[in-house]
Amino acid sequence: MNAPQIAVYPGSFDPLHNGHLDIIKRCCPLFDEVIVAVLGNQTKDALFSVAERVGIIRSEIDDLEACRVEGFSGLLVDFMDREGARIIVRGLRAVSDFEYEFQMALMNRRLNSRVETVFLVPKDEYIYLSSRLVKEVYFLGGDLEGLVGATALERLAKKGQEAEKVDPRGG
Ligand SMILES: Nc1ncnc2c1ncn2[C@@H]1O[C@H](COP(=O)(O)OP(=O)(O)O)[C@@H](O)[C@H]1O
Ligand SMILES: [Mg+2]
Repeated sequence: MNAPQIAVYPGSFDPLHNGHLDIIKRCCPLFDEVIVAVLGNQTKDALFSVAERVGIIRSEIDDLEACRVEGFSGLLVDFMDREGARIIVRGLRAVSDFEYEFQMALMNRRLNSRVETVFLVPKDEYIYLSSRLVKEVYFLGGDLEGLVGATALERLAKKGQEAEKVDPRGG
């Protein structure tokens, strides 16, 4: 029997939004197992801790069999070796993503020649969506209905309340 094909979908996911979830749902039927891998390397710039980001994702993938979420730091290819995974899944939104993704794919292949990167394209309505925009729109009071899940919205609200406690002017 062939070894199970395990794919890793790595990213910051700060927080997970529906564009990410769309990619996860598209790749689950393609592989035996999908691991959503939350990168903790640059945690100081992130709004949510790795544990918080993992928690948000876990609540959204609850009903997806053969899909789990893990936090990791260090090199992605080392994490993949530990998990027995050979495939990296990345989402491609627009030409602007291409150069960076191309470099990463080639670097990861250089670091581990057994690793292949595959790119999936989201539903067109999510093409413009990013975690950065989600945070900006949320904290400016915009409506994120249909763009992020309930748990992410709830956690964003909690972050907003925590910030108000630190600076009652809403800082
Ligand atoms: N709206 C979206 N539609 C499809 N894929 C997306 C979208 N936003 C981000 N992605 C993809 O999801 C992955 C993780 O993105 P992100 O959380 O921004 O982490 P990273 O810091 O690795 O870019 C990347 O492959 C990114 O291109
Ligand atoms: Mg990104």
